[in-house]
Amino acid sequence: MSGILEKTELTFQQLGASSEAEVDRLFAEIEEFLESEQIGDRETFRVLWASDKKGVLTKIRNNWLRAAPPSTRRWIGPRLEKLTHSVAFKLKTYVERQVEGEGSGERVDLSLPGVIRSVGSHHLIRQVFQEIEGIFFSIGFSVVEGPEIETPYYNFEALNIPEFHPVRDDMDTFYLDLPKDAKTPLLLRTHTSPMQIRTMEKQKPPVRVIVPGKVYRRDNPDATHSFAFHQIEGLAVDTDITFCDFTGTIEYFVKQFFGPSVKTRFRPSYFPFTEPSVEFDVSCPFCGGTGTSAGGGTCSKCKGAAWIELFGAGMVDPAVYGFVNYDAKKVSGFAFGIGIDRLAMLKYGIDDIQVFFQNDVRFLRQFP
Ligand code: DAH
Repeated sequence: MSGILEKTELTFQQLGASSEAEVDRLFAEIEEFLESEQIGDRETFRVLWASDKKGVLTKIRNNWLRAAPPSTRRWIGPRLEKLTHSVAFKLKTYVERQVEGEGSGERVDLSLPGVIRSVGSHHLIRQVFQEIEGIFFSIGFSVVEGPEIETPYYNFEALNIPEFHPVRDDMDTFYLDLPKDAKTPLLLRTHTSPMQIRTMEKQKPPVRVIVPGKVYRRDNPDATHSFAFHQIEGLAVDTDITFCDFTGTIEYFVKQFFGPSVKTRFRPSYFPFTEPSVEFDVSCPFCGGTGTSAGGGTCSKCKGAAWIELFGAGMVDPAVYGFVNYDAKKVSGFAFGIGIDRLAMLKYGIDDIQVFFQNDVRFLRQFP
C-alpha cells in the first residue's frame, strides 16, 4: 500500500500538517496516486476509493475533514470535493474503456439494449370512449358515471317504460338474488339511459352530460351480440333547446368521428323516453356513400345500402320530465345513446364483437 493511503488513516494533527500548503501537498499526493492507479478489477477499485465504510474518500472525510479545526477545514472541503469528482470520473472512464474492449475483468457493454419492459396500452374500447368524450368535451358536455346495478325504476319506469311495456322484451336482463324482504328488485342496467334520470334528479337545467359505461342484456353471444357491451348516453336539457340544436350537435359529433365528408340522415323511430325519436344514419364512410367498393363490387361494410345505421336519439319526451320534477312547459332537450362496440367495429373494420372481450394480445396489440 502506498504511503499516502496510510496517511488517510491519520488526522492532520497526527500528520503534523497545519498550513494550507501542507494540505495542498497531501491532496496533490493523493491525486497523483489516484492518477497512477491502474484499475484492474472495477469493484476492487470502487471498494478502495469509494466504498461508504472504508473507502479512501470516507477516511479523508472522517480523519482529515471532520477531525480538523474549522480553520483548516475550509482548505480541505473544496479539495476533497475535487478528489471525489476525480474518483467518479475514473470509475466512469473505466466503464467506457471496458466498452471499447480495453482493460480486463467484467465487461460492461453499455451499447446493449437494457431490460425492455413492455408497456401496455388502452383497450380499443377505452380508446374509442376517450375519443368520443374528447369530441363532446369540446362542445361543453361533461362526463358523469352511474351504477351498473340499477332498480327497475331508473332502468325502465322513470324512462317512461312501465311494467308490461313491449319494449321491455328487447331489454331482458340479469336480476340479482335478493333477500325476501328487499324493497325493490335489482338488475344489471340494460342501457346508460337511467343516468338521464339520476342526473336530472340531482341537477337543475342546464344539463349537458355524457355517460360512458357498461351495459348488460340477456343476449346470446354471436358476432354482433354480447351479454355485456358499452354505451355513451348523451343528454342536454335547457330552456331553449330546439330540434336544430339536436341535429347540429349529432352532426358535429359524427363528422368529428368519421371525417368531415360523411353525410348524415335521420329516420323516424321509437323510444319511450324520446318524442320524436330518430334513428341516426351516416353515409357509409368506407365506400363514400356509393354502396360500391373500390373494386366495383358491393361495399362489404354497408352491404350496398350506402348508409349505415349508427344510433338512436330524440327529443326528451315531456313525460320523462314529470319523473324528475322538471317543468315540461319550460324545458326542452335531446338525448342519444351510442353503442360504442358497434362504432369501434365500424371504424376499425372489426367483424366480431367477441374480440373485445377475449383479450387476445394479438388483437389488442394492433391498437397501441
Ligand atoms: N337506451 C337506448 C338503447 O339502449 C338507446 C337510446 C335511444 C338512448 C334513444 C337515448 C335515446 O338516449 O334518446 O337501446
